[in-house]
Amino acid sequence: MITALVPGSFDPPTNGHVDVIERCSSIFDTVVVGVVANPSKSALFTLSERVGMLEGVCSGLDNIAIESFTGLLVDVARDVGANVIVKGLRAMTDFDYELQLAQMNRHLSGIMTMFVATKPELGYLSSSLVKEVARLGGSVVALVPGSVAAALEEAFDD
Ligand code: PNS
Repeated sequence: MITALVPGSFDPPTNGHVDVIERCSSIFDTVVVGVVANPSKSALFTLSERVGMLEGVCSGLDNIAIESFTGLLVDVARDVGANVIVKGLRAMTDFDYELQLAQMNRHLSGIMTMFVATKPELGYLSSSLVKEVARLGGSVVALVPGSVAAALEEAFDD
């Protein structure tokens, strides 16, 4: 049994995240999506809102669990019995930082990180850009799941 841990801020989850999670769901026995509570990053959505969004989006996949966490990712990986961490890579600009995280995590616990190349048509997508577009009144319906688009509309409804 192989368990993959897919960590992130998911503030909010985008179609890029969903693509990575769905592909992990079809490859690994179990997938744990780890939603970080990062006190140094001010999030638009609360931790429980982000967990709720992911639970809704992933409800059709029966081998997925959504967990929130504080602290070190390697500790979560140990606690959930993950064999591998999986991260999506959009472009080379992601690579330096992600490689650094992967090597630090390997140093800390020996866990391996695997990278999944995002679909080319989603390569420009990020939670930050989605929030900016939504905040300024642009359409995000093609960028995020419907429930997330509705939550963004409500968040920026003034
Ligand atoms: O979606 P993000 O913000 O790119 O996700 C970053 C995340 C959550 C994967 C990263 O910040 C993380 O692993 N945080 C947990 C704290 C930790 O373990 N830090 C040391 C990593 S080398």
